[in-house]
Amino acid sequence: MDERHRGRLTKDGIRIHESADFAGMHKAGRLAAEILDALVPRIAPGVTTGELDTYIEDMVAEAGAVSATIGYKGYQHASCISVNHVVCHGIPGPKLLKDGDILNIDVTVILDGWFGDTSRMYVAGKLPRKAERLIEVTHNALLRGIEAVRPGNTFGDIGHAIQSYVESNKMSVVRDFCGHGLGRVFHAPPNVLHYGRAGAGPVLEEGMFFTIEPMVNLGRPETKVLGDDWTAVTRDKSLSAQFEHSIGVTADGADIFTLSPGGLFHPTYGV
Ligand code: MF3
Ligand code: CO
Ligand code: CO
Repeated sequence: MDERHRGRLTKDGIRIHESADFAGMHKAGRLAAEILDALVPRIAPGVTTGELDTYIEDMVAEAGAVSATIGYKGYQHASCISVNHVVCHGIPGPKLLKDGDILNIDVTVILDGWFGDTSRMYVAGKLPRKAERLIEVTHNALLRGIEAVRPGNTFGDIGHAIQSYVESNKMSVVRDFCGHGLGRVFHAPPNVLHYGRAGAGPVLEEGMFFTIEPMVNLGRPETKVLGDDWTAVTRDKSLSAQFEHSIGVTADGADIFTLSPGGLFHPTYGV
């Protein structure tokens, strides 16, 4: 049997991994989270997103891992860096961070064939009050989604937990991008929607690996992709935030592969 395709598939095409596979995901997830931790002291006004990406690329190589994003559908960078009203897939480059900018940095590594995919929010300089609320709600939304993960619940329960929490805070959930299955591949079934109805969608089973990565806007949920074919922005130019973990379903809940070794996953606001 092909090493890349162990375990069975559900009728929805979702791979059920073996218990031994959790260890590989933990190693890959920890590396991605360590890289995000190492960025914390480097985020400041005057730094470019391109410099941050170069630093990420170097750390991936130093760890003996491979960037999952370099060469992915023609993408050429080791991270996506999405500043202010950029929702996701921001391309690192000569853009200078300025005081009060908020940014999501999303890193995916491949270590021993396993994919670790995680993103979190940072701030350059002083955090504006409105941005702080947005970041708190987005982070809590991810945690609500993870709390809904257990065998017998459905993917709709995850989406519903996120959507109801975000909308009760008068913010909106982006519909145009979703989480995804992963493991020995980057993007696999199912699409993990961050909105939905309780009880809808495939039933969660022990051994499923996927990301939850809600994008939340202060304004309306609509997005558009810029002429570079990657950068997704809010149509109304409102601020957007995102947090992402890679997780596995266990017998009684979720195993988070991308926990921050330094305890820095939650916005660290100038640590
Ligand atoms: N890491 C992103 C995700 O969460 C995917 C980025 S693909 C890229 O799925 F090509 F834009 F890097
Ligand atoms: Co992802
Ligand atoms: Co990601």
